[in-house]
Amino acid sequence: MANKTSKSKHVLRSTKWFGRRDRDGLVHRSWMKNQGIPHDQFDGRPVIGICNTWSQATPCNAHFRELAEHVRSGVLDAGGFPLEFPVMSLGETLMRPTTMLFRNQVSMDVEESIRANPFDGVVLMMGCDKTTPALLMGAASCDLPTIGLSGGPMLNGKFRGEDIGSGTHVWKFTEMLKTGQMNESDMIDAEACMSRSAGHCMTMGTASTMASMVEALGMGLPTNAAIPAVDSRRKVLARMAGRRIVEMVHENLKMSKILTRDAFENAIMVNGAIGGSTNAVVHLLAIAGRMGVKLSLDDWDRLGRDMPCLVNLMPSGKYLMEDFYYAGGLPAVIRQIGKFLHKKTLTVNGKTIWENSKDAVNYNKAVITPLDKPFKPHGGIAVLRGNLAPRGAVLKPSAATPKLMKHKGRAVVFEDIDDLHKRIDSPKLDVDASCVLVLKNCGPKGYPGFPEVGNFALPAKILKKGVTDMIRISDARMSGTAYGTVVLHTAPEAAEGGPLALVENGDTIELDVARRRIHLHVSDAELARRRANWKPLKPHADRGWVKLYCATVTQADQGVDLDFLVGHSGAKVGRESH
Ligand code: FES
Repeated sequence: MANKTSKSKHVLRSTKWFGRRDRDGLVHRSWMKNQGIPHDQFDGRPVIGICNTWSQATPCNAHFRELAEHVRSGVLDAGGFPLEFPVMSLGETLMRPTTMLFRNQVSMDVEESIRANPFDGVVLMMGCDKTTPALLMGAASCDLPTIGLSGGPMLNGKFRGEDIGSGTHVWKFTEMLKTGQMNESDMIDAEACMSRSAGHCMTMGTASTMASMVEALGMGLPTNAAIPAVDSRRKVLARMAGRRIVEMVHENLKMSKILTRDAFENAIMVNGAIGGSTNAVVHLLAIAGRMGVKLSLDDWDRLGRDMPCLVNLMPSGKYLMEDFYYAGGLPAVIRQIGKFLHKKTLTVNGKTIWENSKDAVNYNKAVITPLDKPFKPHGGIAVLRGNLAPRGAVLKPSAATPKLMKHKGRAVVFEDIDDLHKRIDSPKLDVDASCVLVLKNCGPKGYPGFPEVGNFALPAKILKKGVTDMIRISDARMSGTAYGTVVLHTAPEAAEGGPLALVENGDTIELDVARRRIHLHVSDAELARRRANWKPLKPHADRGWVKLYCATVTQADQGVDLDFLVGHSGAKVGRESH
């Protein structure tokens, strides 16, 4: 019964389940037949897992049940046997304390679900921020033929004659509410106008950035990044992914042939050209770690440093993902920066990244600006170091205020997020616009979970003066939809005893982005004195996931994976089922 109709030259993994003529083979097939599956589906055709993060609690992925049907049709078109399976979903807007606490947990769910089941290839359905890295990480640790399929962005938000962007306008509206420029009923109107179709955030936030990374890494089909969720071409893409994964199984085209060091370097450069989210830094480091590809923070700075930002999208710019798609999407960007890229990296359709993009057309030069007239001269991520961040911190220059990129100011310190909430809007807060706001204990272990609070709103009394940006430093992340002169991912974090833990009110902090420097003007002797008095935080949990996470999570410069998950074990299963 093994591989009767298979075009594969190799014996398929699924044959070890469905191709058997013994008791186990009977068990494997018989129970599947209760779903109405005809016997000929077990004739050795590729079994394709459709890994679905559908959940009504993850609104960005709530259309995935329908989208999965198109993948399924594609698998059937190509003579495969589709099996959809759920994994834990991560909805950015509802989950507490932060989805990032669970990214690695989902990656474990994905890895073990793939390995334990008779899949020959997998389509990963991802959308909301963390679902993309979590699925890629888990799948990378199994290394089967795999295609990433993003769910697509929402249509542009439309509010009172203006285009509004998810996330980006949340920050704007929140500030307007604080200053009285908006009232609560305006806010409720805006809510509906912002999220008016299926899909994920339609700014160049983390979801759109990671969908672009899927395409730039070669893990998604061309145009994966930008087709709106409700555009019929997204359904076609899903169907094509279903067809293509069957061929990939026949070709034995595994993730490890695609996710090479060159592919990661391309993705970092593309991230610069699209002005992508700082969150891509930790996610790509973690995915590379699963593939055994050496990637470091310094690669981010080196490869992104001179990459101009070509894409004029919120939060740094004006337009939204729908406009980006109509302008030509990611292939049009890749074509323009081709001279920087490794052109021969392989992608899931069997062609190189350059073959996929070399003829792409830019239909709107306001949205995708030309290389010689870029939207912003620097799109990459700046990696800062100094006595405040010995293992690095990051800043997104394209989202920062130019005049604050070199600045010295007095520290105003918040010990943790509760302290911040308690005092940030107090009229008694001793702060002016030249100060540097410092937030501690919001890193991977400190919060715990590494939340997106690094772009916290400015003190009300500063906002009321019309000031819109100040330097903020933390060990947290920032939403990809946010903007500002925000130093993030400071490593080691305060909860690990990093120097951030030692900053006190009134210290002087100097930021010099051009020199990639962040310095705390306090003597080594004084820092040693403070360190001697520093006390670690009490443990956040004495059982369960949070305990395991806090005990094993790595720091931001290492991708915030759990230390024992780094690397991969392949898809081999050591033992029979019974
Ligand atoms: Fe899901 Fe932004 S909340 S992508």
